[in-house]
Amino acid sequence: MQVGSSTVTVIDTVLDVADAEADRLGFWAAQARRLDWDTDFTQVLDYTDAPFARWFADGRLNVAHNCIDRHVAAGHGDRIAIHWEGEPGDHRTISYADLQADVSRAANALTTLGLVAGDRVAIYLPMIPEAIIAMLACARLGVLHTVVFGGFAAHALRDRINDAAAKLVITSDGQYRRGVAAALKPAVDEALSTAPEESTVAHVLVVRRTGGDVAWTHDRDLWWHDVMATAAPQHTPEAFPAEQPLFLLYTSGTTGKPKGIVHTCGGYLTQAAYTHQVIFDLKPATDVFWCTADIGWVTGHTYAVYGPLSNGATQVIYEGTPEFPDQHRHFEIIEKYGVTIYYTAPTLIRTFMKWGAEVPDAHDLTSLRLLGSVGEPINPEAWRWYRQVIGADTLPVVDTWWQTETGAAMISPLPGIAAAKPGAAMTPLPGISAMIVDDDGNRIAPADGSAEPVTGYLVVDQPWPAMARGIWGDRQRFIDTYWSRFAEQGWYFAGDGARYDADGDIWVLGRVDDVMNVAGHRISTAEVESALVGHPAVAEAAVVGAADEQTGQRICAFVVVAKSYSDWSDVDDAIIGELRTRVAAEISPIAKPRMVHVVPELPKTRSGKIMRRLLRDVAEGRELGDTSTLVDPSVFEAIRTGR
Ligand code: PRX
Repeated sequence: MQVGSSTVTVIDTVLDVADAEADRLGFWAAQARRLDWDTDFTQVLDYTDAPFARWFADGRLNVAHNCIDRHVAAGHGDRIAIHWEGEPGDHRTISYADLQADVSRAANALTTLGLVAGDRVAIYLPMIPEAIIAMLACARLGVLHTVVFGGFAAHALRDRINDAAAKLVITSDGQYRRGVAAALKPAVDEALSTAPEESTVAHVLVVRRTGGDVAWTHDRDLWWHDVMATAAPQHTPEAFPAEQPLFLLYTSGTTGKPKGIVHTCGGYLTQAAYTHQVIFDLKPATDVFWCTADIGWVTGHTYAVYGPLSNGATQVIYEGTPEFPDQHRHFEIIEKYGVTIYYTAPTLIRTFMKWGAEVPDAHDLTSLRLLGSVGEPINPEAWRWYRQVIGADTLPVVDTWWQTETGAAMISPLPGIAAAKPGAAMTPLPGISAMIVDDDGNRIAPADGSAEPVTGYLVVDQPWPAMARGIWGDRQRFIDTYWSRFAEQGWYFAGDGARYDADGDIWVLGRVDDVMNVAGHRISTAEVESALVGHPAVAEAAVVGAADEQTGQRICAFVVVAKSYSDWSDVDDAIIGELRTRVAAEISPIAKPRMVHVVPELPKTRSGKIMRRLLRDVAEGRELGDTSTLVDPSVFEAIRTGR
C-alpha cells in the first residue's frame, strides 16, 4: 500500500533538496546559521583527520543560550517549554522564562560545586524537569553530561561513572514506576561504594521526588533544592567553540564494554534543530510536541531536549509508564495537552495494538496532525494500525532511522514532500548521503520485482554535522568499530542491514552485528554474556536476539555449565532463575534473557567462533541452516533436545 502525499502544509524552512545535493556544505552552513552564533564560523567542515570531523570549528556558540535565552530575548518567555506530567498525576508547567531561571540557578550551583568546562557530570534521574534542567545547566557551562538511563543497575552505572571520570552525580531519592515509588539513590551509593578513595566523584546532588528515606553520605551528598535555593536565577552563558564536547552517551557495542559516544555543540545542535523542524514540520507557536523516549537514550537527548528546545517548541514530558493507572494514560495526555505531534517506538505501538483500538477510540485525538516512529524497524502491520487508529487514517507517519552515533535523524520521509510507505524509512534527509552496498562496497540496485530484494549494508558515505566525534578515551576503537568495514572508501558502517524497493526507497531491516534491539533498547550480546559467565555455574555463554512479535527481539541465552557444577542435565530451574536475575542486576531488567537454555556445548566453527546464526535458528524454532562448518554437528541434536 502506498499512502499518498500527506495533507501537511509544506515546511516553512527553505528546504531546497537540489541545493542540498549540489552544495552540501552550503546547505549545512545555512542550517547552522538558523542558530545563534556568538562568533560566526568561516569553515563548514574540516575532514583532514577523517573519520574525526570538525564542523563549523572556528565558530563559537552556547547550546543553552540557543535552547532558552534566545527565545526569551525574542519575546517568547511566556511560551510553555514543558508541560510536565508526573506518573501519580501531578504536573508542572514550565515556560521558557522559568526554564531560563532554573537553568541559570543550576549553572550557578554547579559552578559553586567547582565544575568547569570540560568536566563530566553523570545524570541518573527519572523523567522529571530537573533532568532537563541539569542537562542544560551542564551545556551552559561547557560541562559534559552523561545521562544514564534510570532503569540501569548499579553495576552499569558504576562503569559509566568511572569511564567518564565524572566529578558529580545528579540523582533523585526515587522514581515512580507503575504506581510504585522505587528508590534510585541506593544504586548511586552502591556504584560509588567500591574504591571510593579512587573515585573522581566529589558530590552527589539529590532531587527529592518520592520523599522516601535516603541514606546520606555527609560532605558528599547535597539536596538539589538546597543548592538551588541559594543560587541566583541569572547567569551569563559563555560561548564555546563549536567542537566543544556537549555530552557523552554510553551505548552497547559488540563487546562487553559500553562505548561513550562523544557529541559536540555546533554540529550536533545544528542537525538536532534542523531535523526536528523538517521531519515534524514544526510550527513552534502552535504545536505541542511529544517524544515519549526517556532522556537516558539518544532519542530523549535529541527529540525531548535539544531539538524541541532549540526550535522554541512546546513539548510534553511524561514521567511514567503507559499503563499507569491504566492503558488510557498516553491518550489522556494527548487529549489533555492537545498534543499535535506524537513520536514513539514501534514496540509501544504493538503494545497498543494488543490492548485494542477501543482504548484510543475512547479519546478525542483530533489535535494530532503528525505521527513518528523510531528505534527499530516498524512492521507494516503496526505502521498501518498506527496511522489508521491513532492517525484517523489521514495523518502522515514518519519512520525515522538513526542511531546514538549519528546524533540525529538521517533517513526519514519528509511530511508534505515525500509520500511514505508502511515500514520504510524512505530516503536520506536533504544534506545526508547514505546508501546500501554489498560486501564489496558496490551499491545495490533497486529491486526490480522479479526476484527477492537483495539485502545489503547501510552506509553513510559523506560526513554529517551530528556524527559522533569519537568514543570517549578510545580513538582507535572508534575507527575499528565504524570505519574499518569500508575503510578503503571511508564510509561509516552503521551495523544495519537494509534493502531498496523498486522505487529505490530504503527499508532498514535491523542489525547485522551482535547488537540486539529489545523494545527499542540497544543491548549487546557480549554484555549479557559477560554477566552470565560471571556466575560460578556458567563456563560459557552465547546470547542471541530472536524475533519477537511485540518487542522486535527477545534475548535467548545458551549456557554451558561449569564442570564443577554437576552434569549439565541436572541443572535446575533455580539456577536458571538466578542467571536471569543476575543479568537484570548487572545490567538492567530490560536485558534479562527471556529464555536460558542449558546446553552441553556451544556450536563453534573450527576456528572457535560461536555460530550465532544457528542458535538463532534454534531460538526461533526454525529448521537448522548449514551446519557443515561446525566442529561437531551432533552438538545441535543435544541443544535442540535439551531444556
Ligand atoms: O538497528 C537500528 C535501530 O536502532 C539502532 C540504533 O539504536 P540506538 O543507538 O539505541 O538509537 C535508537 C534511536 C535512534 C539502529 O542501528 N533503528 C533505529 N531507528 C530505526 C531502526 N531500525 C529501523 N528503522 C528505524 N526507524
